Amino acid sequence: MKIILLGPPGAGKGTQAEVLCQEFNIPHISTGNILRDAINAGTDLGKKAKKLMDEGILVSDEVIVGVVIERIAQTDCKSGFLFDGYPRTIPQAKALDDNSIEINLVIEINVPDDVIIDRMSGRRVHLGSGRNYHLEFNPPKVSDIDDLTGEPLIQREDDKPETVKDRLEVYRSQTLPLIDFYSERARRENLNYLKISGTGSPVDVSDLILDEIKNS
Ligand code: AP5
Repeated sequence: MKIILLGPPGAGKGTQAEVLCQEFNIPHISTGNILRDAINAGTDLGKKAKKLMDEGILVSDEVIVGVVIERIAQTDCKSGFLFDGYPRTIPQAKALDDNSIEINLVIEINVPDDVIIDRMSGRRVHLGSGRNYHLEFNPPKVSDIDDLTGEPLIQREDDKPETVKDRLEVYRSQTLPLIDFYSERARRENLNYLKISGTGSPVDVSDLILDEIKNS
């Protein structure tokens, strides 16, 4: 199974990715997490990405396509994977076609802007794994500590309200065209396209997605 999760920043892609990857036993490929790992490791990729990410601007297509194609060539991706945060532009989607990567399922998660801004301000992240929490909606068992490793949680630099507004603009101008791109493809080809409301609780949204997949 090869899945794309599409949706604005804060829609819950990372949260739902964890559930879906467990359900289908496939790796979670989050380009945001890959870039954050590179920043922490101080690699060339991390140095290129840091300033852009802090400002909510996309990393260049050329760089990100290279990273993704290299990642999915690894053996754990042989029977599928879930993309979270990729593709984010039409050229990134076309790069999948150019590399003969056939996607089976696209899930579009929709959440209004005001809910997104609330979610981002309460988000806390475990850097090592990319696990997401929310102070109110999905709190860790112990305040500011990751449930599984006991390591501290951090607040992302790009989760400040001003940067979130910029990220929403970038989403609208560069990523939204992918909705038409994949909806149109689903009408012509063997691709399943699901539109989901992401406003319920994390568990309600997971149940909705799994039900829709079962019934599609
Ligand atoms: P990335 O890390 O991909 O960020 P994003 O797409 O903006 O998405 P987020 O991780 O912010 O949100 P999410 O939808 O995963 O929501 P989450 O589940 O965390 O990208 C960051 C940056 O990297 C980009 O700006 C860009 O610079 C660069 N980049 C990455 N990919 C790139 C690419 N392909 N090309 C170029 N540049 C790229 O949920 C958010 C919060 O809400 C959490 O606190 C969570 O606990 C909570 N929550 C989740 N679901 C619910 C719910 N149902 N109810 C209540 N709370 C909820």
